[in-house]
Amino acid sequence: MKLAVVGATGMVGEVMLKVLAERNFPIDELLLVASERSIGKEMTFKGKTYKVIGLEEAVAAKPDIALFSAGGSTSLEWAPKFAEVGTTVIDNSSAWRMDRDKKLIVPEINAHILTKEDKIIANPNCSTIQLVMALAPLHKKYKMKRVVVSTYQSVSGTGLKAVQQMENEMAGIKGEMAYPYPIHKNALPHCDVFEENGYTKEEMKLAREPQKILDDRTFSITATAVRIPTSGGHSESVNVEFENEFELGDIRKMLHDTPGVTLQDNIDTNIYPMPIYAHDKDEVFVGRIRRDETQENTVNMWIVSDNLRKGAATNTIQIAEYLVANSLI
Ligand SMILES: NC(=O)c1ccc[n+]([C@@H]2O[C@H](COP(=O)([O-])OP(=O)(O)OC[C@H]3O[C@@H](n4cnc5c(N)ncnc54)[C@H](OP(=O)(O)O)[C@@H]3O)[C@@H](O)[C@H]2O)c1
Repeated sequence: MKLAVVGATGMVGEVMLKVLAERNFPIDELLLVASERSIGKEMTFKGKTYKVIGLEEAVAAKPDIALFSAGGSTSLEWAPKFAEVGTTVIDNSSAWRMDRDKKLIVPEINAHILTKEDKIIANPNCSTIQLVMALAPLHKKYKMKRVVVSTYQSVSGTGLKAVQQMENEMAGIKGEMAYPYPIHKNALPHCDVFEENGYTKEEMKLAREPQKILDDRTFSITATAVRIPTSGGHSESVNVEFENEFELGDIRKMLHDTPGVTLQDNIDTNIYPMPIYAHDKDEVFVGRIRRDETQENTVNMWIVSDNLRKGAATNTIQIAEYLVANSLI
């Protein structure tokens, strides 16, 4: 197994290395890849030192798998070049997610659709992954009609530059800005760029990606995505209207029994999901489950997960593990 990590010096890349080591992913040769700026920089993996290389050198090495987290434009340009030399690319950017010929995978839900021919596989958006992990089992039983989601997203979701902006502001230092406004002591109803319809790209990812992952266009999702000054972990307030009736106890049991989901729902003891406790965990945490008393067959819930783990690195590595286990590379 020759494995390339493209974007190894970034926030997602670094967590990928951590998750690869933790899960003991089988690697014979590791290539750490980043931009020209980082070529020659030293990084360690499992106690061994590696020098960061550039994309040209990485393609020439023809890795079996390349895990990409280096932004959309890098993926658009370079993923096909890797695919051409026989590498299977698993991409974390938004470049290929809605491409009709590329699959969008959350392993617990739809890894079974992968084949040997899939040379560029898309990892969904971080806020989408945690949403569909909780909604998939409920949709199967009760059939979703409409979902209203509001997100409370951490600065690590934007990358290193945003984390630096918040740390500078907390320390009272003037520095480079990742956002158009301060984020410390603030909330920005603006994640990613605005589209023509007045929604942000992040909001439209939440609206579109779950339909593709669940292979069902009969339900609709509307979203408001907000950046808040937390360093890691995204939270979501989710209102789901189903076609069928449900019992709250059944919803709780179903989520409790769903692999990858942890139920944290006991208001008597103040048990509910929070981003600081989701930090460095792979699970999606769900709580505050309650009936929407203003509308039939509708439930409210609160979903939290570490955006750099299940929202990015862990999901990517689970896809790689599935490919290896099913001899698809
Ligand atoms: N952060 C999250 O929660 C999250 C979740 C899901 C998906 N993603 C996606 O993952 C990607 C990376 O996000 P991040 O948060 O890790 O960003 P980041 O911290 O800013 O890191 C970006 C990485 O990409 C590399 N890179 C940038 N331009 C490059 C180029 N032209 N050629 C090669 N490498 C290049 C950087 O290398 P240098 O160090 O050399 O600049 C760095 O390793 C983005 O597409 C993002 O949308 C992020």
